[in-house]
Amino acid sequence: MKFGYFDDANREYVITTPRTPLPWINYLGCNSYFTLISNTCGGYSFYKDAKLLRITRYRYNNVPADNNGKYFYIKDGDTVWNPGWQPVKTELDSYECRHGIGYSKWNSKKNGIKASMLSFVPMDDTCEIHQVKLTNDTDARKDIKLFSFVEWCLWNADDDSRNFQRNFSTGEVEVIDSTIYHKTEYRERRNHYAVFSVNTKIDGFDTSRDAFFGAYRDNSNPEVVCEKGQCTGSIAHGWAPVGVHQINVELAPGETKSFVFVLGYCENPDNDKWESKNVIKKDPANKLLAKYQTDEDVDKAFAALNDYWNNLLSIYTLESNNDKVNRMVNIWNQYQCMVTFNMSRSASYFESGIGRGMGFRDSNQDLLGFVHLIPERARERIIDIASTQFENGSAYHQYQPLTKRGNSDIGSGFNDDPLWLIAGVSAYVRETGDTSILNEQVPYDNDMSKATTLMEHLKRSFDFTVNNKGPHGLPLIGRADWNDCLNLNCFSEHPGESFQCFGPSEGPVAESVFIAGMFVKYGEEYAQLAELLGDTAEAERARKEVKVMYDAVLKDGWDGEWFVRAYDAYSHKIGSKECEEGKIFIESNGFCSLAGIGVKEGLAEKALDSVKKHLDCEYGVMILQPAYTVYHLELGEISSYPPGYKENAGIFCHNNPWVSIAETVIGRGDRAFEIYKKTCPAYTEEISEIHKTEPYVYCQMVAGADAYIPGEGKNSWLTGTAAWTFCNISQYILGVYPTHKGLSVDPCVPHGFGDFRITRKFRGVTYNISVKNPSDVEKGVKSMTVDGTAVDGCVIPFDASKKSVDVEVVMG
Ligand code: BGC
Ligand code: NOJ
Repeated sequence: MKFGYFDDANREYVITTPRTPLPWINYLGCNSYFTLISNTCGGYSFYKDAKLLRITRYRYNNVPADNNGKYFYIKDGDTVWNPGWQPVKTELDSYECRHGIGYSKWNSKKNGIKASMLSFVPMDDTCEIHQVKLTNDTDARKDIKLFSFVEWCLWNADDDSRNFQRNFSTGEVEVIDSTIYHKTEYRERRNHYAVFSVNTKIDGFDTSRDAFFGAYRDNSNPEVVCEKGQCTGSIAHGWAPVGVHQINVELAPGETKSFVFVLGYCENPDNDKWESKNVIKKDPANKLLAKYQTDEDVDKAFAALNDYWNNLLSIYTLESNNDKVNRMVNIWNQYQCMVTFNMSRSASYFESGIGRGMGFRDSNQDLLGFVHLIPERARERIIDIASTQFENGSAYHQYQPLTKRGNSDIGSGFNDDPLWLIAGVSAYVRETGDTSILNEQVPYDNDMSKATTLMEHLKRSFDFTVNNKGPHGLPLIGRADWNDCLNLNCFSEHPGESFQCFGPSEGPVAESVFIAGMFVKYGEEYAQLAELLGDTAEAERARKEVKVMYDAVLKDGWDGEWFVRAYDAYSHKIGSKECEEGKIFIESNGFCSLAGIGVKEGLAEKALDSVKKHLDCEYGVMILQPAYTVYHLELGEISSYPPGYKENAGIFCHNNPWVSIAETVIGRGDRAFEIYKKTCPAYTEEISEIHKTEPYVYCQMVAGADAYIPGEGKNSWLTGTAAWTFCNISQYILGVYPTHKGLSVDPCVPHGFGDFRITRKFRGVTYNISVKNPSDVEKGVKSMTVDGTAVDGCVIPFDASKKSVDVEVVMG
């Protein structure tokens, strides 16, 4: 069942009922000011950091679902309604929400009043705009009232949700004309405040939540709106400050009136904060608000936002016979990659914004999906990430976006982390050709006195694995590898201990075959970077180490039909036919095969056949089988989840593309595409009632075959799935892969996929690539011509003097 439809021409998903199975959200903001907004106008805003600079308050896991947002109430006689349906939930005569690229729109009607709303964050300002247009579709004059509502968060979202003995006494506001200033803590150590304004004279305001709601009431029936019909002019002193405007609107038949609401973040220099005693300096707010006073101002800012996205989404475009693939490649998959770039795993409807900042492993992988879109920002990101690395090559697992400093809140010592840095840097250099980044001086643990070149960081990443091997010559797993829940050195017996932080971060025995696969893949990429810098000796050393690892995997990482997953702290195999449960895992099989391990020996093919046989289910490829049915002290969190959920035999959408990519490595386009389709939102849209999460973006996890409801998705938006599926479809299935020498075009498609065209901007040159497949093969390039000249192989030689290049590839 569907709850809307794709409008590809407008690049929108159109939601036709507010009663979606879960809130379906969008992200507004590209630079530093961000808003999460659901189809019923729930969500919250923050500046740079969802934990430290939260602007509005949200209540996770509340009832009714999706509670708190930026709401507009329309009072029309005795009827009160919201254009987004929540929170009053008055039945609407019509409802439509369009989530677009960086904006959302609503069109709703009730009793002859039409409300159209456009919400977005302008490109260069730290604010969001909500343009509300009200139209009287009746033959009679209407006198209605419009109320706005936001609830301020007292900045630190963590403290805000628990330190009530203090927070009930700190809230402060100022109100001048139509502008409400939220200035809690400005009197002491803050130099920033928030502002909420509208471009018209108002007929009332409230800033005390209690005054607006009334005792024992909530946002679904505020006393001011539903009973009194008149704001009280309250000024908040402590308790819960809010921002409410009241506008009395008179509408002649057919008349439309438009209102521009601006909610923003403003900063003053520390030594110039005050206008007069305890009166905040309003200059930044005045400057900001002056820019958004008319509908024309809004149109201009909206056009600039659209230009920005048009430009980004013109970098990789596809025209094929398959609408679903076209829309994922051209629109939604790339859009999600940009959102994961901005958010990492910090703020979604599943990530509270207070727990996890930017992940070391996560952000490096995210980079794989957006580096072609914004290479300059990828460069900055790489430096930020590498700056948190430790001198021995290991890493903090995460850092806070505002401070950019690493922290151990969810542990450190995840031994896959260092290798992801090589993955990110290699992708950046292959995309841009910018080897200067390798010579940048980058600190360790943010201490500039210990800085070395970025290339030296990569060497330490590489050597971290070389220097930390276990009894089988395989990499020690540390706290965990990619699978955060395979905690082989943890042995936690008491509730409340974090699986990620408890126990030693190192153990001398437990090993990961998955990290071995990564080492083989990224070790080769490291060798190529060394070669680019002319260090052939280092490249040779690296390749030798890679060969040693390759052999170790074939010797002790092969189980007969598939790759072993790991060795535990007793050196017992995990992911082996010897095990009772957890006999086979996806990660080692996907990654070792995509790294090329066992390809020439025929083992990769065998491993991938085993994956199909044992791990496939209707909704995707599961992490492991059989699921763990009891808690295993020696395995940790993985066995803490009921069978079918999360890392215990759930379908992690993130590593499905690894298997699909591995299939392209051995040339099986049908199977690669079959896997691609199973978790692809454009395909799962049809089963939205089961899948539940947004049908335009990937979610982290889909319940596996053992679960109570197989196919149910969770944790949408912030997942490495976005980057990996985009790499999979764009670089492996469609086959346009950036190499150091130039773009390579080597597709691996399912039978019947037909001819297709790709435009790809790469290092300043536009490539118009036409792929023809007259014999309907899965893989193989028979010929390639570049501007009419035949070229050997499938790499387009890079020529910076050309603006645009026509490439014709014939498969066969
Ligand atoms: C989740 C993982 C997550 C980890 C760290 C675990 O509970 O299952 O998916 O990466 O926590 O936050
Ligand atoms: C989510 C985490 O963000 C990611 O880093 C991890 O690899 C997966 N969970 C699997 O545990």
